[in-house]
Order: sequence, then structure tokens, then C-alpha cells
Amino acid sequence: MTEEPKPPATTTDSGIPAESDEHSLTVGPGGPILLQDHYLIEQMAQFNRERVPERQPHAKGSGAFGRFEVTQDVSRYTKAAVFQPGAKTEMAARFSTVAGERGSPDTWRDPRGFALKFYTSEGNYDLVGNNTPVFFIKDPLKFQHFIRSQKRRADSNLRDHDMQWDFWTLSPESAHQVTWLMGDRGIPRTWRHMNGYSSHTYMWVNAAGEKFWVKYHFKTDQGVEHFTQHEADQMASADTDYHTRDLFEAIARGDHPSWTLHVQVMPFEDAKTYRFNPFDLTKVWPHGDYPLIEVGRMTLDRNPTDHHAEIEQAAFEPNNLVPGIGPSPDRMLLGRIFAYADAHRYRIGANYKQLPVNAPVAPVHSYSKDGAMRYAKVSDPVYAPNSKGGPRADTERYGTPAGWHADGEMVRSAYVDHAEDDDWGQAGTMVRDVLDDAARERLVDNIVGHLLNGVTEPVLKRAFEYWHNVDKDLGDRVESGVRAKQGEKDPKAAEQANPARESMQRKA
Ligand code: NDP
Ligand code: HEM
Repeated sequence: MTEEPKPPATTTDSGIPAESDEHSLTVGPGGPILLQDHYLIEQMAQFNRERVPERQPHAKGSGAFGRFEVTQDVSRYTKAAVFQPGAKTEMAARFSTVAGERGSPDTWRDPRGFALKFYTSEGNYDLVGNNTPVFFIKDPLKFQHFIRSQKRRADSNLRDHDMQWDFWTLSPESAHQVTWLMGDRGIPRTWRHMNGYSSHTYMWVNAAGEKFWVKYHFKTDQGVEHFTQHEADQMASADTDYHTRDLFEAIARGDHPSWTLHVQVMPFEDAKTYRFNPFDLTKVWPHGDYPLIEVGRMTLDRNPTDHHAEIEQAAFEPNNLVPGIGPSPDRMLLGRIFAYADAHRYRIGANYKQLPVNAPVAPVHSYSKDGAMRYAKVSDPVYAPNSKGGPRADTERYGTPAGWHADGEMVRSAYVDHAEDDDWGQAGTMVRDVLDDAARERLVDNIVGHLLNGVTEPVLKRAFEYWHNVDKDLGDRVESGVRAKQGEKDPKAAEQANPARESMQRKA
């Protein structure tokens, strides 16, 4: 029988051999603990500092590592190194729910985050998307309010459907995303079985300086699969971490999930006259208008070995855009370009970019210095311009920003009008033209179930109107579904509520 190799001797964090793993230093076996037991104190003090604040939204999630390989030539649209023919780029991915806290169930109905970091030769490129091509709002001023409405009340610390529907029904631009959320895709079976979207429109710039607008679609090679509400509810108690476990175990057994990246490309000049505002985050570009163009494949094949170091402290930020890729006039995207690095400086610390998961493979020659926990050494000169050999921006090569013409009075207003700007149209198209009868039935059931969970009468009435606006038949079915269930519980209340239904029908 071969002997087990002897494990290394325990040390303190300073590498000093520890005297015991089990017994603190006391004055005799029954005596007090001594303050000079610095190993005990180090254990207790470090433990008290183990958690960093959780992410405000998207707190619950996990991720993995892999690579992105370009399979088609899209160099006519972008000069970005990551998308050049033959390029292979190492990457990190994190998937998450939005509203739940760190310990919340993976299978709650919610959009899923789809955050990617590409370690490119020209610096880190982050694409921080969701599993939905649209979002609930279109102005960053509403984001904080939206997230608060999805999280917990001030008084009871409970989540509250009344608050959610209050916000949604007063924000009709949410209809497209809420339709998506209440449908099958609101609960993916696993993270491996969902698509990822940039949601936002970005700018691509080619080597000749020509500009294009693009939307990204990462289509799962595993196929799209969902849980029904019932299956998800069961799973939420059977295995709170089901999606986390599924991804980790799939990669561990060599079943490496992959996604094929496609883009929709819009010529720069089309934006002004396109029937939808191409920068409105609540709208898609119908495939018939701008077909999908294949770019390459992302494969995840390596699990983290230290979740905290590699996933909890991973800092994804939409401001990480590389040469050949720029922002667009989408206000939400422009708001996000500020918000994420600000969150990381608070949550992880000023030098978060030096942690291995966040550090680029491209060399860093910046003028940042000092700050808590900095360990990469800075050398002189520490200012620019200088005549001492410090780094100089290569403006000849990189000096033209990926931008667009902007001019005008300062205002607070909605976007400039496009022909089909209404909030209900694309949601209605999904209900009528994309879903089949069975999916529509599940959509009605999910909405009715959600509305019956604590939504109060004035908000309920607005919710019926909201769904009537998306699709008349859907609205009727939601309303009669809710009233019937209310009638089963409390026939009197249902009777009192019926006049409202009649007045709404007159209005319609
Ligand atoms: P298409 O028929 O070309 O596209 C419809 C798309 O809907 C499919 O390609 C699929 O997207 C997606 N889809 C299928 N089943 C569901 C479901 N149960 N829940 C949500 N999405 C589903 O039509 P259009 O491009 O003209 O779009 C019509 C409507 O489809 C839009 O109003 C929008 O609501 C929805 N949609 C459109 C997308 C787009 O980028 N054009 C993307 C996704 C949805 P996928 O292939 O990405 O899985
Ligand atoms: C996480 C802000 C809209 C996707 C976060 C975080 C903040 C934030 C502060 C936490 C970051 C951290 O602590 O690491 C905002 C603001 C938005 C916005 C201000 C609108 C103005 C969106 C949209 C999407 C999105 C539209 C998707 C298209 C994500 C994802 C994460 C995240 C995926 C988790 C990233 C990770 O896995 O670490 N957001 N967000 N957000 N957001 Fe947003």
C-alpha cells in the first residue's frame, strides 16, 4: 500500500508555522485564552472580512472561463483584434439573476445576466449583456427606481408584486421586456440553454474608418430550453443553486457549452430613417430588416478554482471598449459606461483591475498610481506630458474616437421620433407571431399567477389595460383569468371589481 503524501504544514498568512489547527493558547487546560495567540486572532479577523459587498443588481451568479474563436470574416465591419479572421481570445463569463440576493434561488423568474470579458491583445473588451434582446426602460434615470421596485420593501423587507406591477404599468416602455419575462424565456432550464444578447446597439469601425451599428446575438449551441413555473418552483426548494451546479458539473465532466455569435449590422446612415429608433433599448431590429451574420464561437471549458477570487471579484464594465468597437447614442448604455467602474471601486476597491481575473493580457502603461491594496509597482515619471520617457498616447493610430455628430440645446426629453416608436407594437408581434398556442397559454397562466400574488386593485386595473394594449385577446384572457380566480376565493370582491372591466371594454 502506497503511503499518502504528507500534506504541507499549516502556516499563518505570514508563512510562520502554526502551532495547532485545533487548540487555542490558554493558561492551563481550563484557563483564559491569551491575546498573544496571533494565529487565532488572524483566523477570526480574516473571517470577519471574508465577504465583499454583493453586487447591487445581479448578486446571484456564477461563471467560467474559455475562449472565443472567430469563424467568419467580419473585418469589413470592424478592425477589433478580437473579431479578426483566425483570432482566438481567452475569456471569462458570468451568468446571474438580476433581483435576488447572493443566496437566492437560481430558478426565480427574472432576466439572466450574460457578462463576458474578452482578454484581447488590445486590452480587455467587456460585453455585459442579458439573455434578452431588450430591457424594461430606456433612460438611465429610471434604472435605480426600476431595480428598487423589483427588490424589497422598506417596511417588511419583502419582495412585492404590487410594487413591481406599479412600476411596470406606469412605465409602458417596459411592455416588450415584461412580455418576454412572463413567457417561457423568463426561466431558462439552465444557463447553457439560453441565448445571450448585447441588447444595446454598439458601433463598429473598420480599418478604413467606416462606421456601422451592431447588435450581438450569442445563440446557444445546446438549444433554448425553459422551465415551467411549476418546475422552477419545485427546483427553487430542491436545489437553490441548480444553474450554478449545472454549469460547474457540465464543464467538470467535459461537456463544454458553446454559443455561436451572430451580429446584425446596420449601415451608419440608416439610423436616422429606420422605422424604429435603433438606439431604443426596448426595441429589437426585426431579423427581416437586418439579418444575422455569423462571427464565431464562444466555448466555456474551465471552471473557477476559487469562486471568490475569480467570479465574485470579477469586474465587468461596459466602458471596456477596444479599438474598432464604440458606444452608440443609447442613453442606457451611456449611463452604464459610468456606473460599473464606480460600483467596482466601491465593492472591490480602487485597484480592482490588478486582480488576476480583471487584469488584461495586454500590457498596461497607465498613469494611475497608489490607492488601497495596490501591488503593481509604478515607476517614474508619474505625470504626462513628460520628457523622461513615460508612455505617450499613440494618437496617430488610436486618436479618432468611435463617435458621432452631436449638437443641440440641453433638454430633458424622450428620444427624437421614429415612425414606429410605440411601446406595445413589438411586444404584440411576439405574442401573435412568435409564440404558438401552448406558449401563449403558459404566458397567460404566468401573468395571472404573478398578478394574483398581492397586486392591489388600482394596480391590477392598470395591468389589465397594459396587457390589452399589448394584445386585445391576451388582455381579455389575463383579466378573466384573474377575476375568475378571485371569484373562487372571494365572490363578493370579484363582483365589486367587475364594473371596472366593463368600463375598460367600453374604452377599448
Ligand atoms: P423572427 O420570426 O425573425 O424572430 C423571432 C425570434 O423570436 C426568434 O428568432 C427567436 O429569437 C425569438 N423567440 C422564439 N421564441 C421565443 C419566445 N418564446 N420568447 C421570446 N422570444 C422568442 O421575427 P422578428 O425578428 O421580426 O421579431 C419578431 C419578434 O420576435 C420581435 O418583436 C421580438 O419580440 C421577438 N424577437 C426578436 C429578436 C430580434 O432580434 N429580431 C430576437 C428575439 C426575439 P432567437 O433566435 O434570438 O432565439
Ligand atoms: C450588474 C448598473 C442596465 C446587465 C450591474 C451592477 C450595476 C449595474 C451597478 C453591479 C456591478 C458590480 O457590482 O459588479 C446598471 C445601470 C444600468 C444597467 C446603471 C442602466 C442605466 C443593464 C442592462 C443590462 C445589464 C441594460 C443588460 C443588457 C448587467 C449584468 C450585470 C450587471 C449582466 C452583472 C455583471 C456581472 O456578472 O458581474 N448593473 N445596469 N445592466 N448589469 Fe447592469
